[in-house]
Amino acid sequence: MKKRLGVNIDHVATLRNARGEKHPDPYTVALEVLKSGADSITVHLREDRRHIKDIDLKILSSNKIIPINLEIASDSTMVKIALKYKPSFICLVPEKRDEITTEGGLNLKKNRNKIKKILDVFNRNNIRTSLFINPSMQDIKLSKILGSKCIEIHTGKISNQIKQNKNYLKEFNKIKKCVSYAKNIGLEVHAGHGMDYKTTKILNKIKQIEEFNIGHFIIGESVSHGISKVVKKFINILR
Ligand code: PXP
Repeated sequence: MKKRLGVNIDHVATLRNARGEKHPDPYTVALEVLKSGADSITVHLREDRRHIKDIDLKILSSNKIIPINLEIASDSTMVKIALKYKPSFICLVPEKRDEITTEGGLNLKKNRNKIKKILDVFNRNNIRTSLFINPSMQDIKLSKILGSKCIEIHTGKISNQIKQNKNYLKEFNKIKKCVSYAKNIGLEVHAGHGMDYKTTKILNKIKQIEEFNIGHFIIGESVSHGISKVVKKFINILR
């Protein structure tokens, strides 16, 4: 099975917004990402629009060839926006105003009615929709009951353990068991959050994970390793 890579470009917008101007441009980066072989672009339209803005989504969606995975909170305004732009994929995520990033999976038990209704709407519109959940058997079972065809496992905990050189085996086995169960009941499984090269290598051993969605590390590495090319360009101009 060919593993798919989705690249989250939220932090290209974070950099752009730091100056309030137009550079770097998420659309240009999205095209580069796809040209390099990635399968999709992820953007999270947050309530506070701290990185990706509505205009970014409009521009990205205007190019019908870009496979967009839109992350949104389970909120009726966001559902309306999603239906307006009809991205290829949607991922429902929890959202808290003062969190730095998406800190955990959805609380399916608490929000089951709301999430079911949203899933029904997107299923009717043939938009592949995944639920961002913690690696928990209960949440996987509930995802299926609510009508989801896809889940994305939050890999924040294992990613931190790996980065901090802690023992990650227990968490790895938990994720592996969850993935296997999810596949058995007919769900497609994705993974995302906090991944770097090492985490991805380790999680890629779980063969049934079909898609990895990675953001912050890719943008960070692009700065670290892309800077040399840009500095050389300036030296060429100056000397
Ligand atoms: N998947 C989902 C559902 C996310 O919300 C995010 C961003 O929080 C990611 C993947 C990517 O996480 P990161 O930027 O840590 O790679």
